Amino acid sequence: MHFKALIASGGRGTRLRPITHTQNKHLIPIANKPILHYAIEAAVSAGIKEIGIVTNAESDEVPKAIGDGSRWGVKITYIPQDAPSGLAHVVKISEAFIGKDNFIFYLGDNMVVGGVRKYLDEFERSGASCFLTLAKVKDPERFGVPEIRNGMIVGVEEKPKKPKSSFAVAGIYIYDHHIFEAVNKIKPSARGELEISDAHQFLIDHGFKVGFSEITGWWKDTGKPLDLLEANRLILENIDPNIEENVDVDEHSDVAGRVVLQKGCRIVNSKVRGPAIIGEGAVVENSYVGPFTSIGAGTTVVNSEVEYSIVLKGCKILDAGMRIEGSLLGNDVEIVRADGKPRVQRFMIGDQSRVEVS
Ligand code: DAU
Repeated sequence: MHFKALIASGGRGTRLRPITHTQNKHLIPIANKPILHYAIEAAVSAGIKEIGIVTNAESDEVPKAIGDGSRWGVKITYIPQDAPSGLAHVVKISEAFIGKDNFIFYLGDNMVVGGVRKYLDEFERSGASCFLTLAKVKDPERFGVPEIRNGMIVGVEEKPKKPKSSFAVAGIYIYDHHIFEAVNKIKPSARGELEISDAHQFLIDHGFKVGFSEITGWWKDTGKPLDLLEANRLILENIDPNIEENVDVDEHSDVAGRVVLQKGCRIVNSKVRGPAIIGEGAVVENSYVGPFTSIGAGTTVVNSEVEYSIVLKGCKILDAGMRIEGSLLGNDVEIVRADGKPRVQRFMIGDQSRVEVS
């Protein structure tokens, strides 16, 4: 069966400020690779050749960063969305691109291990018009939540106060063309969005078969900063250790576990404990980089300790004092020791940043 892929990369990313003041959330790197690459690669490895990416119409950041798909051997079509009017709106404006084909709709901020081919196969076998992937979560009220009776989905509610199951509907959906009937009929919700959950409810109410499968590996919606750290941990846990060209690790350094050292990085008199990735041209000197850490390209870490963190490009962490842990640093951030007396903590921090001191 022939499938297209539709990937959502619009929206505002407000829960990830301040990083998203200057960067689209789908381009934030996890293990030094933009989140959006994981969605594209999931589609590519399922054999899909035509991918539509819905982007925020005000910005060309995503098309610029991702390109025409040739590097993955696929064709990418960009579909601009004027305002983040909801996920069903994303589907609605993509009707011309999809035509009569079946398609996988993938939310660009979702990450799943093990690819999506198996869900496409299950969709085909099920004869359903709509196929949802479900994941058990502790906080279903943050998601679309299915009600399941006798092994059938009988209802879907968006962010319900009283969830009817402990499942979240994950952001990986498979449809045939009947979804367009739904997204063209439903009305905006109380928060003014065309909700994808309402489109699913419409299909159920109109007698279409809605199938589902439980995601048994891990799945993450990277909507909040802690989710990004968790996704980074999970990706690094499975990363293939690798040392790229022109890497320099001196004899006083100790690099152990699953570690990727990217092109031209230098490790001097330091300990790197995987799983971790050190970006292109980064320098780690007299320092400790602990498990589940991604250090971005061109970042310098000197006389400092960093663990379970994501550090983006061009940062300077120099004599940071206490170990940096559970942190997300944007591009070109500097954490340096304040010189002189009195001993102070001095901040130069943009809007909506968060610093925890002790
Ligand atoms: O992650 C799974 C959840 O995603 C589902 O359980 C919910 O049913 C579904 O509504 C959605 O909830 P979120 O609150 O997480 O959606 P969010 O607004 O974060 O948008 C998800 C992605 O879609 C994100 O990558 C941004 C993009 N997006 C969002 C909207 C509203 C668009 O491209 N355009 C939009 O209009």
